[in-house]
Amino acid sequence: MDCHAEDQFEDALCPEEGTELTYENFGRALIGSECQTCHATGAADRRGAPSHVTFDDLEQVREWAPRIYERSAGANVSMPPGPVDLELEVREDLEEWLACGAPGGE
Ligand code: HEC
Repeated sequence: MDCHAEDQFEDALCPEEGTELTYENFGRALIGSECQTCHATGAADRRGAPSHVTFDDLEQVREWAPRIYERSAGANVSMPPGPVDLELEVREDLEEWLACGAPGGE
């Protein structure tokens, strides 16, 4: 990983008015359906996803936020690997949620 890999995430902007998006109303379902098939501790078939890259809960998602951002948020489309792809709108919501600090909403 190069040393500038996290710059993009650091520059990400949370809207001035904040976000309505939370782990409860957005993140959990998205990560659960689109990422955990490969990136969960108990995944039956990781399809090559590294064993330490797990997004089991909000804490892990926050730890991985800069990398999740770089792979899946906004115009970043390298995860999930094709042919399945996310709607741009979903990627934009992911960008906003992560940029605002991935609020939990619990
Ligand atoms: C079909 C299985 C699969 C799914 C679904 C999947 N990934 Fe991955 N992921 C991989 C594989 C394989 C690698 C290792 C190769 C690579 O980095 O491209 C990986 C690596 C990663 C990494 C670590 C490498 C890095 O860039 O730091 C991150 C972060 C990541 N994926 C994010 C996600 C996110 C976010 C989602 C859901 C939006 C997702 N992945 C969905 C298979 C998957």
